[in-house]
Order: sequence, then structure tokens, then C-alpha cells
Amino acid sequence: MATVKAVRGTRDLLPPETELWNRIEAAARKVFARYHFGEIRTPIFEDTGLFARSVGEETDIVSKEMYTWSDGDRFDQSKMIAVWTQGFVRQLQGRPVIVQNPYPGVELKVDRPPDRGTFPTLVHEFVAFRPTISAEAITALAKAKDQEVARNDYPGLFQLRLVVPTTAADNTWIPRENVNIEKFDGQYFPSSQSLTLRPENTAGVVRAYIEHKLGETGQLQKLYYIGPQFRRERPQKGRYRQFWQIGAEVIGPPSAGSESPLRDAEVLEMLATLLDELHIEGWTLELNSVGSSADRERYNEVLRAALIPVAPRMCADCQRRAVTNPLRVLDCKVPEDQAIIEALPKITESLDQESKKHFAAVTAALDAAGVAYKLNPRLVRGLDYYTRTTFEFTHGGLGAQNALLGGGRYDGLSEAIGGPKAPGIGFAMGLDRLVLTLQATEANQNAGADAAANVAAYIAPLGESMNAAALVLARELRRAGLSVELGDGSFRLKKSFDAADKCARRIVILGEDELQSGILTVKDFASGTQSKVPRAELVNFLNQ
Ligand code: HAM
Repeated sequence: MATVKAVRGTRDLLPPETELWNRIEAAARKVFARYHFGEIRTPIFEDTGLFARSVGEETDIVSKEMYTWSDGDRFDQSKMIAVWTQGFVRQLQGRPVIVQNPYPGVELKVDRPPDRGTFPTLVHEFVAFRPTISAEAITALAKAKDQEVARNDYPGLFQLRLVVPTTAADNTWIPRENVNIEKFDGQYFPSSQSLTLRPENTAGVVRAYIEHKLGETGQLQKLYYIGPQFRRERPQKGRYRQFWQIGAEVIGPPSAGSESPLRDAEVLEMLATLLDELHIEGWTLELNSVGSSADRERYNEVLRAALIPVAPRMCADCQRRAVTNPLRVLDCKVPEDQAIIEALPKITESLDQESKKHFAAVTAALDAAGVAYKLNPRLVRGLDYYTRTTFEFTHGGLGAQNALLGGGRYDGLSEAIGGPKAPGIGFAMGLDRLVLTLQATEANQNAGADAAANVAAYIAPLGESMNAAALVLARELRRAGLSVELGDGSFRLKKSFDAADKCARRIVILGEDELQSGILTVKDFASGTQSKVPRAELVNFLNQ
């Protein structure tokens, strides 16, 4: 059988490299704590609609990069009602009337009978539910139908019959109030939810903010996350299909100051601090404002007009975007299109006074804090939810995928997914790219390679009969806080020395004599000295 390999665009992270990953994560957690952020962990998959409504249908992420599947069958009450009313339609046929809908959001359509005379005196409707639906739902259904009957003045013509098994497998049929009972072979109404592996985490955080009513605390929520994200992109250096982000969001009701430009500046200053503490040098903060949603709409129209004469000379994606979402043209990376894009009107010219004032306050605070930035009017970012401040930290060492991190403000996102007004700003950095950048510097090239030096001792049992005693000794030392590697008594002494030399600072020999006398033989690899150490002093000795 062919060997199974990791899927294209995914990778295994192995020691010692994982040590560097952990170091970066630990440094980020420390910085977040100092800026008073708490950790949030949202699910790795969400309802597909969440991303369509937040990141935006027309973005590359949603239109071509999401891992989406339809989740297995579940009982779907609204579908059952739809099927049931379709039966009703079949029997009545004719002009449409709307039945009063007991289920908001589910459209119930039925037709009025063309000719009363053609109907029998009694029409039975059979509805079976599996599993059971609530008594309220059944009553509401019966009522809806009764009302329809009353409105159409067909007394006695219709009779609703409902049969209700108590559970899917149960044959006991329970009478419900206002309902005639008739046994009917239960029909299952399956439906399936569309789910998507998260391509980013902001949408999930805002969903959680709404779901847990965090806005009602009246406080700013400062939340950070560290975790994998998934995009079906073409893999290359620094671009993977499963990649990790370290991100943070500041979100809250306007009364908590969530709209303040100070929040933007604080997040950017924190990022500069974090990158400095990670010893990442040579980054550039690129900064822009995409204005309010009204500004963006206005700019979209300006762009749309400006694109009409030039779009036919651009790539196929740009030709489509020029019509559907002109702003996205600015994301284009096709070299031949760049000169055309550079000549397009800039978003800065479409900002209203408020947006200009907001942006000026952000840059003034950054100037005061000494955080350097470069204005980039083309930086509109590849996600639709941004308003006002947008930014990226780029690094020359990364090649084509040069964005270490990106982010911005998203003042309308909460409302777009059905929540209260909750302006926010946040960022996400590519952990894979941070690791690449750090690995490129000399100090980190051997990151983790000297992890061996952290192993205080290698215990070499002399003969298999010493294995259990060696485990006991290792347990003692490990419980005292030492990092210990445990050998195997089946090894010859030379093999134990070779193995120990590769991974530990010292080797501790444990034979019958050592066990009896309580005096252990310890050899230090760096100095080459061999010592006899009483077992009671071993921890102290190894700690030196
Ligand atoms: P984004 O620009 O799509 O923004 O991604 C942020 C960062 O994630 C990028 O700058 C890059 O470092 C990393 N990244 C993205 N895609 C990949 C990939 N395929 N492989 C490796 N690294 C990648 C967002 O995701 C927004 N949610 C950021 C945000 C938070 N905005 C406001 N709050």
C-alpha cells in the first residue's frame, strides 16, 4: 500500500523546531497579559454563513479558499413543515394564499382550492414527526391550519391529524391537545448544515462576543487567540493550507471607548513591542485608512467608474471585481496590472472629515509613542469587514509572502452578523511566518538544537535486571525537577554512552553495585570527569 503522507499545504512540526514555536507563543502570552488581554478559544469550524457574511462573499477567502462541507443528517423541523405544507398545496391546488406562519423565518405557502365542489367533505392531513417536536409546535401548526380553514370559509372541510411518536424508535403514540390522533408511519426530515473550517478567527470572536452578550458588560473586551486556520491557497514558502495565527481583538460598545483612535494606536504600539521582544528586526508597519462604510461605498463607485476604461486590459479576476467589488482590484498581485492600479484614484481622497480626523489621531498617537510607520493608500486588505484603520507589518526576509501580520478596524462587523453595535480593532500574525523570520537569523538557526544540554542526566541501567531500579531513580530525579533520559539495560555500555552523549550532559551508571552501595557513578561529558556520588546528593550534584 502506498504510504500516507501529510496533506499538501499541511506540515508536521517536530522538535526541536517546536521549541521555537513555544517560545514565540509564550512571549506573546506575556505581552498580551501586560496589555490586559485575556485568551479566547473559539471552535475550529463554524457555520459557513458566518464567514460569508463577515469576511465577504466576493473575497478570495470565501469565494475560493474555504474548506466547506455539509454536515451529516439532523432532524429539521422547518423542513418537515415545508414538506407538510407542500402536501397541503398538492391537495388544494390553485391560487396561492399564505398560511399564518407559526415559525418566523420559514415561509409556508399553500394554494387555495380552485373549486370547492371538487373536494371531498373531509380531507385528512397526516404529519409524522421523528423525533418528537414540542407540544407547542404541534399546537401552533394545528392553529395555523385552522385559521386558514376559517379564513377560507370551508367549515368541516379540513381536519388536521397529527401523529406523534415520543422518540424516533418509539411506537407509543401520544395524543396531543386539539389534535386528532391517527397512527402514521413516521417520516424523517433530514437536513444538513453547511460548516467551514475557520479561515480566520475574527468572525468567530465577534460571533462569540454576540452569543455571550459580552457587550452587556459595558466593558471593552480585549481577547487574544492562538490557533490553526485553514485556507485552500496554493502552497509556497510562508503560505500553507493549515497555518497558525496569533491574534487579538479589542471590541465593545461605543460607550466603552471602542471607537477611539487611541485603541488603534495602542494595538499598533503593542505589536511593535511584541516584535521587538521577539527580536524580529527590520519590519515595516504599513498603514492606511479605508474610511467608514459610507466612505468605502463612495470610493467603490469612484473606482468602478475609473475602472470602466481600463478593466478590459486587466486580468480576468480584476475584470470581474471591477463590476462586483472594485475595491478588491487593489489586492491584485498580477505584475502587468500594477501600473494601471497605481494610477487609480486613492481611497484617501474619498474619506470624509470624521474618518480623516480619526486617522490623524491614530498617526499622532503613534508619532508620540515613537512607532514608525509608512502610509500605504493601497492597503485595503483582502477581507470585507474593515473600516477606517488598516495595517500590515511586512518583513523583507519573507519573500513574496511578506506580511508578518495584518489587521484593522471593523466597526460594522457585529451588526453585519446580527449583533449590537460593537466597533472593534484587531490583528492576526502568521506564526509560521514569525518562525521563518526568526529561523533566518543566526541566533535562532540552531533554535532548540541545544535542547540536549537541558537534559541533566541519562540513566544507564547495567543489564535488564536493573531496568526497574533505573525507572525508580529516574522518577526520583524527575520529581525533583530534573530533565532525565532513561536508557535500557539491554544496551551494551558503549551504546549507552553514545546515546547519552547525544542527548544529555551526564551519564549515571546504575548497576548491582551502585544499587547496593547507594553510590552512583556519574560521568560529565563536557569535562570528561567521572565522579562517585551518594544517591542522596545526586539531585544537588546534577543541578550544578
Ligand atoms: P489576514 O491578513 O488574512 O488577516 O491574515 C493575517 C496573517 O495571517 C497574515 O499577515 C499572514 O501572516 C498570516 N497568513 C494568512 N494566510 C496564511 C497562509 N495561507 N499561510 C501562512 N500564513 C498566513 C486576518 O486573518 C484577520 N482576521 C486579521 C484581523 C484580526 N483583522 C482584525 N482582527
